[in-house]
Amino acid sequence: MRSKHTLLRFGVAFAVLAGCDSAPEAAPAEWYGVVEPIVRENCSGCHSDGGIAPFPLTTYEEVSMVAQWVASAVEDRTMPPWLAGQNCNEYKDDISLSDAEIAAISSWADAGAPLGDPSKALPPPESEPMGELSRVDMTLGMHAAYTPTVSPDEYRCFVLDGPESNLYVTGLRAIPGNAAIVHHVVVFAIPPGQVDAVEALDQEDEAEGYTCFGSPLGGNGMVPMLGAWAPGASSAEFPDKTGLLVEAGSKIVIQLHYNIQNGTGADQTTLQLKTETEVPYPAVFRPFTSYNWVLDPETMSLPAQETTTHTFTQNISEPGFIHGTTLHMHTLGESGSLTLQRDGTDNECLLDIPRWDFHWQRGYQFTDPVEVVPGDQLEIRCTWDNTTDSEITWGEGTSDEMCLGFIYATADYE
Ligand code: HEC
Repeated sequence: MRSKHTLLRFGVAFAVLAGCDSAPEAAPAEWYGVVEPIVRENCSGCHSDGGIAPFPLTTYEEVSMVAQWVASAVEDRTMPPWLAGQNCNEYKDDISLSDAEIAAISSWADAGAPLGDPSKALPPPESEPMGELSRVDMTLGMHAAYTPTVSPDEYRCFVLDGPESNLYVTGLRAIPGNAAIVHHVVVFAIPPGQVDAVEALDQEDEAEGYTCFGSPLGGNGMVPMLGAWAPGASSAEFPDKTGLLVEAGSKIVIQLHYNIQNGTGADQTTLQLKTETEVPYPAVFRPFTSYNWVLDPETMSLPAQETTTHTFTQNISEPGFIHGTTLHMHTLGESGSLTLQRDGTDNECLLDIPRWDFHWQRGYQFTDPVEVVPGDQLEIRCTWDNTTDSEITWGEGTSDEMCLGFIYATADYE
């Protein structure tokens, strides 16, 4: 996957350079050979029939018709949706565009979207959607279809069966029943001791599933997250030889974020899991935040009509390897970061989100795991713009805020 991507980028850089060589002014990029592969790799996963984007970007006709619009979206880096800033760390399955790719699209749009040489056309796209697991060991489904009714966004949890014996999840993928409305799926493993609480919430709500915005337990604490799935060019296989334990008797809860601006109707989503009975390096997906904020929400106060930053730093007490991370705020978030501070060396940037967007949260897996030792410190930083007229504090509700990191880590790694 990675190598294919790198090759594509190489192709683009080469095409742009070749243009520079042959003329004093760089020749504009053409659709065939340059723009088509960028769009196929980075846009069509969402911008196609039945995808979550409101219009298709698959053929020359479709893309050239909105060429200027496409160019401005990629220049602003609002598309493709990838929140991690440049110049921080390197991630697997990075769908963001390189400067050369953005320049190629801009030059193509400015030149009136030239078609180029059809002999360089890509073969028709494979009909299989992107992001397939290399192996599917378990398929779990919602027990009945659900039709979202809240516009534009609705968050709902569904309780799925869990495994009958202990196993490690090593990859996951959601298959939306109705791709036009499924924006995002977060997967939780509910330990046996908390299954009753979740089932009670499920039973209180008459329709399939129950309303849940934060944790599947409502305001009553956190449960282990297995991962998140978002449409587009992302695969959700965990780092090689690692996996997350799900105990026998657990239930799996999927939290669906529905958006009904671009489609309506019922959905019945399925979850595919790749599993192992043993893994060489068991992992944890650990929340990282200040206990003060959780226990005394006023300590994370965001005064009305102000921009506020809160940070929290903690010593790392055990040696280990961090393989990936993600950051979570609610809708007033503006920017955020996770940084490793090491004795005597420069700070190491794990994740930097210069422009937070609640709708595009995802996990970021490092290309190379980061080794940590006791004494290193982890810092989380969140900045919000509280445009409301009330003070906001920590909480699970839609009108509360959070500053929460997640770290995918193993004690050991090769
Ligand atoms: C992960 C899914 C996804 C990918 C990948 C993606 N888009 Fe989008 N795009 C969307 C959605 C959904 C919208 C609708 C607006 C929104 O929800 O932000 C959108 C909106 C747009 C718009 C409308 C203007 C705007 O900024 O909202 C343009 C133009 C666009 N996309 C171009 C692209 C291009 C070009 C690529 C590839 C380089 C791309 N998109 C990749 C999902 C995606």
